[in-house]
Amino acid sequence: MAQAQRHPFLDGLSKYRGAPPTVVVIFGASGDLCARKLIPAIYNLGMDGLLPADFFLVGYGRKPIPDEEFRTDAAAAIKEFSRRSLDADVWARLAPNTSYVSGGYDDKAAFDRLAAHLAEIEQRTGRPVQPLFYISTPPNVFAPILLNLGASGLAAKYLGTPHHAKVVIEKPFGKDLDSALALNTTIRSVFKEHQVYRIDHYLGKETVQDLLVQRFANSIFEPLWNRNFIDSVQITVAEEVGVGTRGGYYEQSGCLRDMIQNHTMQLLALTAMEPPGALDAEAIRDEKVKVLKAIQPLTIGPAGEVVRAQYAAGMMAGKPVPGYLEEEGIARQSATETYAAMRLSINNWRWQGVPFYLRSGKRMARRVSEIAINFRRPPGTLFAGETARFDLAANTLSFQIQPDEGLSLILNTKIPGLETRTQPVKMSFRYAATFGSNTAEAYERLVLDAMIGDGTLFIRGDEAEASWKLCTPLLDYWRSVGRQGMDSYAAGSWGPPGSDALLASRGHHWRQP
Ligand code: BG6
Repeated sequence: MAQAQRHPFLDGLSKYRGAPPTVVVIFGASGDLCARKLIPAIYNLGMDGLLPADFFLVGYGRKPIPDEEFRTDAAAAIKEFSRRSLDADVWARLAPNTSYVSGGYDDKAAFDRLAAHLAEIEQRTGRPVQPLFYISTPPNVFAPILLNLGASGLAAKYLGTPHHAKVVIEKPFGKDLDSALALNTTIRSVFKEHQVYRIDHYLGKETVQDLLVQRFANSIFEPLWNRNFIDSVQITVAEEVGVGTRGGYYEQSGCLRDMIQNHTMQLLALTAMEPPGALDAEAIRDEKVKVLKAIQPLTIGPAGEVVRAQYAAGMMAGKPVPGYLEEEGIARQSATETYAAMRLSINNWRWQGVPFYLRSGKRMARRVSEIAINFRRPPGTLFAGETARFDLAANTLSFQIQPDEGLSLILNTKIPGLETRTQPVKMSFRYAATFGSNTAEAYERLVLDAMIGDGTLFIRGDEAEASWKLCTPLLDYWRSVGRQGMDSYAAGSWGPPGSDALLASRGHHWRQP
């Protein structure tokens, strides 16, 4: 009894969000993402009592792997990557329901074998088990997997019921507008849109979800959330890591595809969208699409609104690190950007004239993701003139997405004393201080939501297309000019000078988070 209370999963009780009997099939089961994120996420859901009693995990991949070996690898992945250590009771329940099917991605017979395996699981269970197909492979096999899910009848399983087959698609969702359109066409030839869950793991982050709560569950922000009070918005997604061992992937991708088109644009959409009519997937995604479509096409070219750069050798945490062009697997003359910054204008009633600055890069001074809302300055009639006495900053509301998750507001305050002097101060709220720090990882929330059938935190097809529509002309331009205009920044710095100049031209400067 004590054990069942510790792990409600053992009783098959879902604490507050019930998923139906489910089999998660992971394509690309011997890949990095599966070991680092997916298996640990599933394990932690089990530990929190959020998996259904009839839960099954099936790995699928080209490499023949016996069930037992797949289980051993899964346990090793949990030990290495899970935020909580491997609990014998929870694993004893998950392990027997974990199996592996090997086969090619374009091999229809192998998909028939997969279908037979799923049927066998259902027979053992004695009731319908919803299939959740998780495509975590390189993008060149997305289409064959989707088509074979269609041809084998798996995609249509239980269609018309709430427990219909579902498909999760990992990034990259295309590499430009044409390929994203083609991928959507393939998906829609097999699945209905409501069966499809396109992942952007930033949407699974606690603080990103909290953005909606902060905006729409508090009455003080929304009246100010417009061009009358907001001067500019800055969205930063900075990383300390370099390309590491992912050179092969990154050379084909670059910062715009890897971070801006998806994660940063999603942060922008949630910040700038209109209040949705309801808190459901369609209402929220309708608003996100609307605001993405309202972004004006970028001004591209030498005097444009975009800066790209590569990191040069520099120092990270006191140690020398190589520049991008010296990294393993990178062409010596590579024209792939590791940093991008841009100024976007949203052409609607709320945001007309308010610049949205976006930046993201690898090997930057600090790992930090934040959204900063800079308010207009008050009229300069009272505390003006004497800058030595009146140190005033614009009010800034910032959402720290990671690390050190929280919210802060910069206010101007009187310094205690007999003379009136002012100084900006920071009012802060930190999640860890209030709620503790061992919160669920993004993938836990996303896998659970997909099992439950809640698409709110996933990208709809038209959203992906709207964002690619904005980025593709820029990618085409960069391709056409090669390395021309490529700026550079020292590893461990805050980015290239061109990026500072982009803001300075409008009297702005980047925050140092
Ligand atoms: C991924 C990118 O989508 O996001 C990586 O492909 C990047 O290049 C990662 O490092 C960053 O995610 P997080 O959650 O660590 O901020």
